[in-house]
Amino acid sequence: MIDATVHIPSSASIGHHVVIEQGAVIGENVQIGHNSVILAGTIIGDDVTIGCNAVLGCQPFKNARVKHDVSQQGALVIGKGSRIGNGVIIYAGTELGEGTMIGDLASIRERTRIGHSTVIGRSATVECRTVIGSRCLIQTGAYITADMVIEDDVFIGPEVSTSNDKYMDRKPYELAGPRIKEKASIGNNATLLPGITIGKGAVVGAGSVVTKDVPDNITVVGVPAKPITVHLPQSGEEDQS
Ligand SMILES: CC(C)(COP(=O)(O)OP(=O)(O)OC[C@H]1O[C@@H](n2cnc3c(N)ncnc32)[C@H](O)[C@@H]1OP(=O)(O)O)[C@@H](O)C(=O)NCCC(=O)NCCS
Repeated sequence: MIDATVHIPSSASIGHHVVIEQGAVIGENVQIGHNSVILAGTIIGDDVTIGCNAVLGCQPFKNARVKHDVSQQGALVIGKGSRIGNGVIIYAGTELGEGTMIGDLASIRERTRIGHSTVIGRSATVECRTVIGSRCLIQTGAYITADMVIEDDVFIGPEVSTSNDKYMDRKPYELAGPRIKEKASIGNNATLLPGITIGKGAVVGAGSVVTKDVPDNITVVGVPAKPITVHLPQSGEEDQS
């Protein structure tokens, strides 16, 4: 069902059983796979490809246990040339920059900002209000908590987990996700505790639990993570080892 007031450019390709609600905007050369649902007000830029069974522009919901405000989200905006995989769910009020890629089954909550050319891997979860820079690689199954800042060119390995509530709702704590500065790399299965900063170009080894700030260009490993003396070359920088 496509709302009669929505303009579908002749260059667009729309699969079977697609739903497009009132107020949605569909750009030139957009491709939408079978069974996908484009909810009211969603703005899809030119040259965007969407897989099958995606749900785009969802409104958040809550119950008595949820404290944050879920009203007034604004539109979901998907930047030109982005690729959205099969079964992806993205909430309203989120903005994806140009050329982003969202892997199959990934889920992105409301009011998130993602820069251009960033990859969100298969089955990754990005919670609400988080800001992610450009050219980041966030790999399969990563859990990106709410209220995080991830700067440009950050690498986050598979199944990395981040947290924003130090005392797990048992005593007052101002929710604060980790901040990951530009060009930092986080290895597989690492856990980042709330409120910490991972410095520019820093490296967190696979499986580490990071409990404190990591300075720029320092590598930490272990539980709890401690510095070791190695330095990974940054992209464009020669490996001197
Ligand atoms: C942190 C890392 C970059 C260090 O690599 P490296 O510079 O080659 O370091 P080495 O392998 O020489 O290890 C140096 C020491 O740190 C230890 N170490 C390395 N990585 C570790 C880790 N993740 N946890 C605990 N200890 C670690 C080594 O056992 C070694 O200890 P030793 O000196 O007592 O023998 C690497 O081990 C790592 O964890 N990479 C992440 C890989 C990843 O998750 N990729 C993402 C997607 S594929």
